[in-house]
Amino acid sequence: MDAFADFAAHGLELLGSLFLFAIGLLVLGALGLFVYDKTQTRNTIWRNYPVIGHFRNLFETLGEFFRQYFFAMDREELPFNRAERDWVKHVCEHGKDVVPFGSTKNYAPGSPIFANGLFPKFDEDDRITPPFVIGPDTAHPYQPTSFFNISAMSYGSLSAPAIRALSHGAQMAGCYLNTGEGGVSPYHLEGGCDVVYQLGTAKFGARNPDATLNEVKLAEICENPNVKMIEIKLSQGAKPGKGGILPAAKVTEEIAQIRGIPAGVSALSPNRHVDAGDANELLDLIAQVRRVSGRPAGIKFCMGQVGPVQQLLDTILARGPESAPDYIALDSGDGGTGAAPMPLIDSTGMLIEDSLPLLHDMLVAAGLRDRIKIIASGKLITSADVAWAFCVGADMVNNGRGFMFALGCIQALKCDKNTCPTGITTHNPRLQAGLDPSNKAVRVRNYVKTLNQEVEMIAHACGVDCPRDLTRDHLLVMQASGRTRPFAKSWSPDRYLSDKTAKERARDRTN
Ligand SMILES: Cc1cc2nc3c(=O)[nH]c(=O)nc-3n(C[C@H](O)[C@H](O)[C@H](O)COP(=O)(O)O)c2cc1C
Repeated sequence: MDAFADFAAHGLELLGSLFLFAIGLLVLGALGLFVYDKTQTRNTIWRNYPVIGHFRNLFETLGEFFRQYFFAMDREELPFNRAERDWVKHVCEHGKDVVPFGSTKNYAPGSPIFANGLFPKFDEDDRITPPFVIGPDTAHPYQPTSFFNISAMSYGSLSAPAIRALSHGAQMAGCYLNTGEGGVSPYHLEGGCDVVYQLGTAKFGARNPDATLNEVKLAEICENPNVKMIEIKLSQGAKPGKGGILPAAKVTEEIAQIRGIPAGVSALSPNRHVDAGDANELLDLIAQVRRVSGRPAGIKFCMGQVGPVQQLLDTILARGPESAPDYIALDSGDGGTGAAPMPLIDSTGMLIEDSLPLLHDMLVAAGLRDRIKIIASGKLITSADVAWAFCVGADMVNNGRGFMFALGCIQALKCDKNTCPTGITTHNPRLQAGLDPSNKAVRVRNYVKTLNQEVEMIAHACGVDCPRDLTRDHLLVMQASGRTRPFAKSWSPDRYLSDKTAKERARDRTN
């Protein structure tokens, strides 16, 4: 007993000494920090409030997590709120989603509401939907099987396991995968899905050293029958007028080899194609791509000024409709990216809410609507978003960040840092290890399948056979007064068409 008491007393003594030692260390550390803070000149808060000033940085970092998990309301966060993220997560895991009790949606001004028909179409009826063909006059026209597809995201901005999951998932779902501007990697092709090869301003994968098109390399890429279309990217909504940015940390040996650039150095694409400086040069480039590839050739841009787009349409009319791009992938000013400067990501480029109906009206007025298909993108991640796009003018919808959610993205906003905690936008093998491509491919498939079904369900509720039959008559828009108006009455292209002839043409269409 005595021995035990002796042992306990010694133990307590030791603990006490350790405690005093720790306190001593802490006091010494605080003193050291105090001296450092007072003498440094970089940080004003640390200099004015030595030691305690550091808590501000700690709380700022922790606040990010606390807000997301505890304090942010379901419909509050940006770019995507919890309700949207949870919806994608749910359909990826369980297929169709249902919610209990009633809507929690806040009908902010501009919110779309579908105008259901009195007599819906039976969901289960067999229907023959008219074939939808892009580039019917090319050697290899493309007939997509899904109207919801995976938007351009390069191998580089996304990791290898992420691209592999997308490729396999797209194959299972029957949708296409756009390579983004980083070239075609083996991971894009691995699953055997349809692939759209994007030629960004640097033309990675098919470039000459001066960033003009290397026809031999493009022809080689097109030997793969899964490459279905070629997309010439003029701009993307997150950074119009700025080329792709892949930070040095993400330019691995393999990525450098696929792109044809040096490893370990930031890959900065020029901010426009060197060989497409005006409408005529662009149409020449489209013709060159179509001739070499034998595939439909589209262009991608985010609308800003309307004049140059009208000028492009006028040039197409002057050269003949066959000179037109086979499709326009129209991106929203609030589209996603791996990395972009803040003034461009926040404050440049028209939002899809305006640019999509406007582009549709301009194509109709030019008599080119049948010739040029419209693929819309930009925060169109739920079935309601996609159905909205069909109502106002889209033929198809591309999506980027919804598919990142399908891969397990938690919106940690680290895409530019190579530290993505879900392995999606990092090349760190430790972080990639958690992303199982086969499991995530199933989620990608579920997302596409459910979304296709739900958009069809909305179309049937509106009394039409298929999503492409949705029109502006099926759409109401919430006004600031708290009342809705039919979309057709609340939208007019006149707001943007300052040129009188273009205005008149648009009016002719509506009359
Ligand atoms: C990680 C990431 C990488 C992207 N890379 C490209 C790219 O290489 N080329 C491109 O045209 N757009 C790129 N985008 C933009 C998307 O293709 C798409 O236009 C945009 O994200 C649309 O918005 P959404 O994500 O809400 O669908 C990227 C987007 C993300 C999130």
